[in-house]
Amino acid sequence: RGVAVIMVGGPTKGTRFRPLSLNVPKPLFPLAGQPMVHHPISACRRIPNLAQIYLIGFYEEREFALYVSSISNELRIPVRYLREDKPHGSAGGLYSFRDYIMEDSPSHIVLLNCDVCSSFPLPDMLEAHKKYGGMGTLLVNKVSAESANQFGELVADPETNELLHYTEKPETFVSDLINCGVYIFTPNIFSAIEDVLKQKQDRANLRRVSSFEALQSATKALPADFVRLDQDILSPLAGKKELYTYQTLDFWEQIKTPGMSLRCSGLYLSQFRRTSPHLLASGDGKRTATIVGDVYIHPSAKVHPTSKIGPNVSISANARVGAGARLINCIILDDVEIMENAVVIHSIVGWKSSIGKWSRVQGEGDHNAKLGITILGEAVDVEDEVVVVNSIVLPNKTLNVSVQEEIIL
Ligand code: GDD
Repeated sequence: RGVAVIMVGGPTKGTRFRPLSLNVPKPLFPLAGQPMVHHPISACRRIPNLAQIYLIGFYEEREFALYVSSISNELRIPVRYLREDKPHGSAGGLYSFRDYIMEDSPSHIVLLNCDVCSSFPLPDMLEAHKKYGGMGTLLVNKVSAESANQFGELVADPETNELLHYTEKPETFVSDLINCGVYIFTPNIFSAIEDVLKQKQDRANLRRVSSFEALQSATKALPADFVRLDQDILSPLAGKKELYTYQTLDFWEQIKTPGMSLRCSGLYLSQFRRTSPHLLASGDGKRTATIVGDVYIHPSAKVHPTSKIGPNVSISANARVGAGARLINCIILDDVEIMENAVVIHSIVGWKSSIGKWSRVQGEGDHNAKLGITILGEAVDVEDEVVVVNSIVLPNKTLNVSVQEEIIL
């Protein structure tokens, strides 16, 4: 039997995701019309004999209550949110709920970061994990040498796939092979975390008796019950025949910024084309809009038949798109109104915003640049014939003049 755990973090994480994380916890932000965390959760459905899925985070329980109950019903696998009273780090958070996780006596624990976008090749990874016979298997990916330092960089044995060396976000280049934040562990991971906790506790005690000065610096350091999976567990266990790697050849991205959420929404839409085409708008029939490429339209959205939508467009609940509107590479959130002949390109339009007639909201389409896409927060009104280019607009603003390359606070 297996158990899956998804680390969702909390409100102090995901600050780079503002202003979108002001309304909704980042793990519930919609990508391809589904909450971010929904994608790893539905990938877990392909794990044979999965007993439970846990989400561990330090958001308020009520933020996840509705989602976990509806998804449990849909998947017919119990999904439960477990709240940490404070952040314990990625391994510490896992450890604090070991009793729940071990309830079903799992032989393996699938651990996933919620802010990665992947096809999550979990069944194949599980096969590899069993074959390797180690304590853990990491999903790894090759990235460009310039971008590798945003991730855990690692070296693996090309023959055995053993993890030989691991450094978290190193300052000098180690390797273009990186940690994807997707793992399979045996329950022995808990002993490994416990060992680290003991060492930390011993060191903290030692400092306490050694000197007052040291005590002062110790109080500034991370708390003794804070354990990071990468630095504290993976680094020291590399090269000890405990950890192995499984390389994905399919898509993988990290979702730290709104720009990346737009790109990942597109990646999931193209995955739907292969796995669940019924979720995509088809655009056939006289009374539907012209659809280009992969598009998701929530059943409650009203899209005018003379509008043209796509590629990579996702339209959420109760949104309205007027006659002659043109939408390309964008996420339109709930209750947005886009009026006649407006154009939205390379942008995210926040909940309840409205875009006036003949207006243009657009970015240049660079998903990694700070102002590479335009983002409108909740309830932003762009008046008629206004042009908004490469800008970020915070919630509750009215734009009656055109803006370019601006952050409107
Ligand atoms: N519950 C809980 N409690 N979750 C946490 C905590 C915590 O105290 N701290 C982090 N997380 C969650 C985050 O929400 C995220 O899903 C995951 O754990 C990892 O977050 P970080 O520890 O902040 O690391 P990172 O995202 O910068 O980098 C990690 O992921 C990369 C892949 O996306 C590292 O493992 C990198 O090596 C890796 O490349």
